[in-house]
Amino acid sequence: MKDIYILGIESSCDETSVSIIKNGCEDIATVISSQIDIHKEYGGVVPEIASRCHVENITFVLEECLEKAHMTMEEIDAIAVTYGPGLIGSLLIGLEAAKTLAYLYQKPLIPIHHIAGHIYANSLVKPLEFPLIALIVSGGHTELVEMKGHFEFQKLGGTLDDAIGECYDKVARVLDLPYPGGPKLDQMALLGKNTYPLPVPLKEDRYNFSFSGLKSAVINLAHKKAQQKEPLRKEDLATSFQKVAVESIVSKTKKALLDKNIQHLIVAGGVAANQGLRKEITAMAEEIGVDVSFPPMKYCTDNAAMIAAAGYYAYNLGIRAYYDLNSESSTSLC
Ligand code: KG4
Ligand code: ZN
Repeated sequence: MKDIYILGIESSCDETSVSIIKNGCEDIATVISSQIDIHKEYGGVVPEIASRCHVENITFVLEECLEKAHMTMEEIDAIAVTYGPGLIGSLLIGLEAAKTLAYLYQKPLIPIHHIAGHIYANSLVKPLEFPLIALIVSGGHTELVEMKGHFEFQKLGGTLDDAIGECYDKVARVLDLPYPGGPKLDQMALLGKNTYPLPVPLKEDRYNFSFSGLKSAVINLAHKKAQQKEPLRKEDLATSFQKVAVESIVSKTKKALLDKNIQHLIVAGGVAANQGLRKEITAMAEEIGVDVSFPPMKYCTDNAAMIAAAGYYAYNLGIRAYYDLNSESSTSLC
């Protein structure tokens, strides 16, 4: 069978990335240009700055990727691009680049939902086995999705307020950690003890999550300590927060796996890099005899390899977009 090379483009937030993936699993070349150092100064992503940076970077990132792969555009079979959700101005840059390339080189254009990309980051490790449950934990999403086959997504539950990554970043701010706070809070949580009692979110609701109450409890506690001029044991607060947050995610995921009698679990999104979550999910999966997969660390946060990997399966299913494809800032996977 002929090898299929998909060129993926991702620009939904503050990473400009292009990747070439062979047959949905082999990373031929991936280039990621991160804007973290630029946005750090502002404590978060500034959308207008992000889209300007994408404009400046996209051509260089594309050229570097092709050079690294020792390939030309003529050798590419199709172009997969993130069309949403994300920052509209940022999405538009990747999308226009993809459409231009598709038109210029007469290649099929494949629309990829950003969360489908995160899910398919797992297929860069081993092929997905169905039925499966995907636990999506990122800066903008916290969802449990059932998949019975490729690109068949059925939402089981999701967050009713904040996404888990967003919650990590806001709690990290209160602990004076620089942007992006999630990974730093994860590190800090390794150093402390679980001493601060925090509310357990949404114990009873089936597969839904809620993190705003937990976030507010941490913020209020920190402010109270500051007002009363009492010392705040930041490491302990980080550990206590992580314990409750992870426990909530693990218990809902376990319930979904048991209720649905599903043997395969994949974890996706930036927070899949979280060490506490990896440890507890692995232990839970082992306990109930479920096979679990995490993307390698480099594919957890935003990258184009996951978009190209998803693009391969979409390509095989005949999923195509036309030149009128538009970016969508908020669009659900299913
Ligand atoms: O998937 P992603 O790169 O972007 C979105 O699609 O949202 O996820 C970024 C999020 C940020 O909120 C970041 O703080 C969080 O993932 N994150 C982490 C860790 N690494 C990244 N949160 C907790 N622990 C980590 N190790
Ligand atoms: Zn993402």
